[in-house]
Amino acid sequence: MNFQQSKLWHERAKDVIIGGVNSPSRSFKAVGGGSPVTMNRAEGAYLYDVDGNRYIDYLAAYGPIIAGHAQPHIVEQVHKAMADGSLLGTPTPFETIFAERLQMAIPELERIRFVNSGTEAMMSVIRVARAYTGRSKILKFAGCYHGHADLVLVAAGSGPSSLGVPDSAGVPASIADEVVTIPYNDISALEAAFAMRPQEFACILIEPVVGNFGIVTPEPGFLEAVRRIATTYETLLVYDEVITAFRFRFGAVKCNAVQPDLMALGKIIGGGLPIGAYGGKRAIMEQVSPLGPAYQAGTLAGNPASIHAGMACLDILEEPGTYEKLEHQAKMLENGIHASATEFSIPHTINRYGGAFTLFFGDQPVRSYQDAVNTDGNLFAAFFHNMLQRHVCLAPSKYEAWFTTIAHSDEDIANTLSAVRESMRELHRLI
Ligand SMILES: Cc1ncc(COP(=O)(O)O)c(C=O)c1O
Repeated sequence: MNFQQSKLWHERAKDVIIGGVNSPSRSFKAVGGGSPVTMNRAEGAYLYDVDGNRYIDYLAAYGPIIAGHAQPHIVEQVHKAMADGSLLGTPTPFETIFAERLQMAIPELERIRFVNSGTEAMMSVIRVARAYTGRSKILKFAGCYHGHADLVLVAAGSGPSSLGVPDSAGVPASIADEVVTIPYNDISALEAAFAMRPQEFACILIEPVVGNFGIVTPEPGFLEAVRRIATTYETLLVYDEVITAFRFRFGAVKCNAVQPDLMALGKIIGGGLPIGAYGGKRAIMEQVSPLGPAYQAGTLAGNPASIHAGMACLDILEEPGTYEKLEHQAKMLENGIHASATEFSIPHTINRYGGAFTLFFGDQPVRSYQDAVNTDGNLFAAFFHNMLQRHVCLAPSKYEAWFTTIAHSDEDIANTLSAVRESMRELHRLI
């Protein structure tokens, strides 16, 4: 397979864009380095690179793409929105209609505010939680990613007593001190963290189904315990549904009856255009300016193109059978991958939830970040490149998910599984 033009573009990009990428996860650092593939077009289930190669895409742009690339209804609605003015700088009817639609699908969103990314949504939600509770500390779970704001770039910390250590240079230790990180699915660590600091936490941030150290679901009773503890200690429960909202069902994650106080959305609700949103209980959201003292603003927030792309995406997702199809395809992939990995004696664990899954190279269950760390990154890197050579594009990291889209056909799934079998055969030579 020829990647010549990709290499040339990466060399050229590096002379002007730092690292040659506009988001570090797009580099191939986590899969052995080298030039990432430069894509110049996408349609349906496929990505096309600058050398003319076509790939079946399971990256789905890290989650927003669920209806397929260049989906005609979304494209048409965005064209219309742009023709009527890309940015009005005033309220528009469309943002209200879209907010009403989100609220219908997610009744917990009593009041909503649109922003431009998941990072902004999480940053804002934390400010609101702090304003409402008058407390400053936050509790998060190791390995959960909530965007790149200072406060949430802290994933380290072993056990409830350790205060955070920043994962990034440039995050002051004083900010990291505001964050306590504990393992996902660990109720005793949660209880211990609150017993130690009963009146200090403004909020608990959680991905109700994890997408950022692979797909990991909460164990039975875990989210209920999180809710109970949040209520007991008068701390707000914040669901980060930037990946999960509208990914698994038409609305937010509902794997149990737990209600968050606040929620952040992004990715899918923008239909591939920049967006984020946060919202929740009215009394809490009334902290937000202009009603309340918590300031949060945005020149591009609620721009008509993003709003129309999001609405068009929701139109498609609302069609009957959508989520059944997404899950069916992911299940076929799961079964086929499991069969090939077993045939070639490759240690593996597949965590699937609806139309998303992660293939881990290791035979132990993955229920926490540490479990994911313990899986084999070298085998993943080899598998990733084997798949790329066979025209299948996965996310270049062992911690990411495969996402199915409405555009994937049964033939795409069958071709993917042939590539998987050949790739597993090659891995067998390595172990
Ligand atoms: C759960 C979660 N929250 C927040 C974010 C940040 O969103 P964005 O990249 O749009 O800023 C991400 C991004 O991957 C995410 O997965």
